[in-house]
Amino acid sequence: QLVLDELAKFSIIRDTRTLIIPGQTDPAESHEAQITILGALNSLQSREMISYETHETSSHVLTPEGAQIVLEGSHEARVWGALPAKGEGEPVGAQDLKKKIGEEAAKVGQGRAFKNGWITKEGGGFVKNVSAIEDVTQLELREVDSTGTLKTGEKTLAELRKRKLIAQRKGQWFSVLMGPNFSTSTAKPETDLTVDMLTSGSWESATFKKYNFEADGIPTSGGAFHPLLKVREEICNIFLEMGFEEMPTNSFVESGFWCFDALFVPQLHPARELQDTFYLSDPSTSLKPAEDYYKRVSAVHEIGGYGSIGYRTPWSDEEAHKLLLRTHTTASSAAMLYKLAEKCRGETRDQQGTANASETGESREGDGFRPAKLFSIDRVFRNETMDATHLAEFHQVEGVVADRNLTLADLIGFMRVFFGKMGITNVRFKPAYNPYTEPSLEIFAFHPMLQKWVEIGNSGMFRPEMLEPMGLPKDVRVHGWGISLERPTMIRYGINNIRTLVGHKTSIEGVENSPAVMF
Ligand code: PHE
Repeated sequence: QLVLDELAKFSIIRDTRTLIIPGQTDPAESHEAQITILGALNSLQSREMISYETHETSSHVLTPEGAQIVLEGSHEARVWGALPAKGEGEPVGAQDLKKKIGEEAAKVGQGRAFKNGWITKEGGGFVKNVSAIEDVTQLELREVDSTGTLKTGEKTLAELRKRKLIAQRKGQWFSVLMGPNFSTSTAKPETDLTVDMLTSGSWESATFKKYNFEADGIPTSGGAFHPLLKVREEICNIFLEMGFEEMPTNSFVESGFWCFDALFVPQLHPARELQDTFYLSDPSTSLKPAEDYYKRVSAVHEIGGYGSIGYRTPWSDEEAHKLLLRTHTTASSAAMLYKLAEKCRGETRDQQGTANASETGESREGDGFRPAKLFSIDRVFRNETMDATHLAEFHQVEGVVADRNLTLADLIGFMRVFFGKMGITNVRFKPAYNPYTEPSLEIFAFHPMLQKWVEIGNSGMFRPEMLEPMGLPKDVRVHGWGISLERPTMIRYGINNIRTLVGHKTSIEGVENSPAVMF
């Protein structure tokens, strides 16, 4: 910057593009300063702010003796000055002369004064030989002192050097040319036009970095799967590998009927209350389900049937028709099981009339039932207090198997195989309660990192109160189970706060860098 300040001071001297700064000519200035200037010039040149050329100079300076002569005159002049004019006074003897002007000056000056014809001998001493002299040496030294050189040229300079009155000084100067990036400031050029610059007006004087159209762009990264999607994919593969079919689960909004009533969840069940379930206000009611089925469901709740005494509480159509965000994917499972029972209900057969068994895909037993293995992995919603492990929405993994004469052992055996494929080999089951399953089992897995049993899911054999109104044959048993997608994902990735995984605090980088999952 110092060099640039200098450049700014000197501005344009030679022509519009050449700037001159003097080089090192003063021997008093340190060698270090010279190196600093040179370094600065090189650095500026490398940034194409300037280009420069070095010029060698040679000049002369006075020695202390020379400087004395400039002040007092040359020795010979001083000798002449100390003597009387011819015939006007006592000639001065050599000893006296030494006393008057000093030994050195007297000794050297005497000879030169003689040689110049300025003095002559008289009696025992010296007197002036001319009335006026021109002290050429003093004049020459004055010229050297002020200009660093002599007009008369090198020969005289060489003589003065030989007399040790002047000394030669080598130096250099630089001619500097403005470069393409010339600026009088080394401040970094701006790369962005900011709001601040616009409001303060500083953009007007700012220097902007030029676009570099040759530069390679930053490689763009592709999209990345969220850890939940990776785990979902793996679980999905396990299901497919075990011969399961994926259920359509695109209806986030369900009716109270499909989410609860069809599952034999009593209409007064606490899970149906506002603080547990999100209800829709607009539209607030659903279309009516198939009338026959609806009647069978309301009857089993109100008065019982299929060997059940029911809940014996008044049935509310309003409750059944409320629209809500589904609290579990079992709502979809119920709809699928109802569909599965279609042929068993005889509706298709009635329509098809004469069609024979093989054409209608009818079962061996002739009741229209075909076994099914169904799964879903999708989003559910619960009006819950959110904390490190709970959000108002999460994903459920659900599996449903429907076949004749299934037992609880089938359910347990199936889950052991399934969780084994997920790498969870240590599982335990605990009796539990679900309104729609009997028996019901909570699933626990031993967490190797936490060194304790953690609940991972819920399961059970669907109740006849749920299956028979759908029209499924009496010997058809359906077992089902559900786990959350978030829990195994958090365990898999060592995440202990759900908010790290889902929501605005999720780091994109973390998602991009999360490893693939292989169970
Ligand atoms: N719906 C249950 C839940 O939300 C899971 C489950 C599904 C239980 C199927 C039994 C049968 O936890």
